[in-house]
Amino acid sequence: MNDDRILIERTGAVATVTVNRPKVLNALNAETVAALTAAFVDLRTDDEVRAVVLTGAGDRAFIAGADIGELARLTPLTARALTEAGHRMCDLIEGLGKPVIAAVNGYALGGGCEVAMACTCRVAARTARIGLPEITLGIIPGYGGTQRLPRLVGRGRALEMMLTGAPVTAEEAWRIGLVNRVVEPDALAAEALGLASAIAAQAPEAVRRIIHVVSHGLDASMNDATALEATAFGLVWATEDAREGTTAFLEKRKARFTGR
Ligand code: COA
Repeated sequence: MNDDRILIERTGAVATVTVNRPKVLNALNAETVAALTAAFVDLRTDDEVRAVVLTGAGDRAFIAGADIGELARLTPLTARALTEAGHRMCDLIEGLGKPVIAAVNGYALGGGCEVAMACTCRVAARTARIGLPEITLGIIPGYGGTQRLPRLVGRGRALEMMLTGAPVTAEEAWRIGLVNRVVEPDALAAEALGLASAIAAQAPEAVRRIIHVVSHGLDASMNDATALEATAFGLVWATEDAREGTTAFLEKRKARFTGR
């Protein structure tokens, strides 16, 4: 799928998805949220895609948040519909069944920060600025940010970021665990693609199960979470890749995973 709001490019087993509204720093209006959601629905079932990189068009912004022009016209009911659409999109990205690497190439504010947090890993350009500035508009985060930020950086730092609205630099984001890596802007695309490709080369069912168990386990009791892990550990033995990985080690050769 390629519409002018969302661009999709393939490099081997990696699809790069670009939010393309650079004139408004890739702010997300309802149509863009729908197009981005539709793109991820397609990618979820495309077996040739083993990993996704998500980024923003231009060199200024990843996504500068929800479209404030649209926000200004909300009523309580349309606001609830907007937040539910945002949750559906972020849950889809988080539970895609394959890794999504956010290549944070500039401002990741509000909904942009929230989409990045729903991704599996985040790589940021040194020039990126990341935060949840909703409080400065008199509102609150609505794409899952109130829940994903404290899970990533801890409650105190998350509350400070949400209550002041002040964004953090890429370096600070790395220090507090909000992003995995920081690189120079001109190295960002290659770094994100490299990370996505490295994960894409692993056994896909094992990748899918790890993401699933981590996401769901974090919201469960330790007992329930380890039970989930045990079930997933059993299920990966239904794959040829589990035999191949262990056999290749014993035969002192590199594993050739086929996704079966
Ligand atoms: N929604 C709608 N339009 C947005 C936007 C958003 N979230 N973020 C930026 N834009 C638009 C600006 O209105 C401007 O449009 P214009 O050229 O027609 O005036 C254009 O994008 C460029 O932004 P501008 O503000 O001129 O750039 P800047 O370098 O001075 O500031 C930001 C950059 C990101 C600091 C500033 O745009 C900003 O604060 N944006 C809003 C961020 C936010 O609060 N997001 C959370 C929403 S819940």
